[in-house]
Amino acid sequence: MIVAIDGTAASGKSTMAHQVAEVSGFVFMDSGVMYRAVAFGFLKYHIESTERGAAAYLPKMNLRVNCIQSRTKVYVDEEDVSSRLHTSRITEMSSRIAMLKGVREFLLEVQHEIGDRFDEDPGVVAVGRDIGTVVFPDAEWKFFVTASPEVRARRRLAELSQTGIETSFQEVCDAIIERDRQDSQRVIAPLKKASDAIVINTDDLTPDEQAAVVLEYILER
Ligand code: C5P
Repeated sequence: MIVAIDGTAASGKSTMAHQVAEVSGFVFMDSGVMYRAVAFGFLKYHIESTERGAAAYLPKMNLRVNCIQSRTKVYVDEEDVSSRLHTSRITEMSSRIAMLKGVREFLLEVQHEIGDRFDEDPGVVAVGRDIGTVVFPDAEWKFFVTASPEVRARRRLAELSQTGIETSFQEVCDAIIERDRQDSQRVIAPLKKASDAIVINTDDLTPDEQAAVVLEYILER
C-alpha cells in the first residue's frame, strides 16, 4: 500500500508521515530530503542551478537513499548528510533545483524504485509536493496537508530555535510564503492537491492528532 502525503512548506506533513510510518510499520519516504540532498551536492561542487548544470552533475552524482522504517537517510559521496540539510541556504537551493526537469526525472526514478520495492511489503508512506499527482498517482490513499502561514511560521521558528538558529518570526513567515509560491507556480510537477486527496488542516491539531486522522483512514481498510 502507498500512502501519499503532500502539502505546503512546514505544514507538519513530515512529522505526521513519520508517526504514521512508526505505527503502521510502513517505510517512510521523505522526498523533500532527496531534493535537499541534491541541493547539497550542487552547493558542494558549485554546480549552476540550470538544466545544463544538472545534466553535467547528476549522471555522476553519488546519491544513496535509504528508507529504513520511519526514517529517510540520504548519503552524498557515501557521507550521511541527513542531519545537515535544514539550513536556509539548502532550503532555498532545494526549491531552486526542484524546478529543473533533469533533477525531477533523476529523483522520480529513485522514488519509483522505493515504491516498487516496498509497496506490497511493508507499504510506503511517501511525503512531498507531487507524490499524489506525479510520483504515485495510483496511491491507495492521498492526503493534502495545509496550515495557515502564521501557524507554520510559529512551528518552524520553534524548531529552528531548538537547533540554535536565531531568526525572526517575520523572516520565517516570508520564507515559507515565498517557497510555497515557487513550489506552486513552477511548470513541472507544481505543488497541487490531487483531485482525489483528502484535505487535512493542521492549524488546531497536535502532531499526535494529525497522525491519528491519517491512521484512522488507512487502518480501517
Ligand atoms: O519538504 P521539504 O521542505 O523538505 O522540501 C524542500 C523543497 O524540495 C521544497 O520546497 C520543494 O521545492 C522541493 N520538493 C519538491 N517536490 C517534492 C518534495 C520537495 O519539489 N516532492
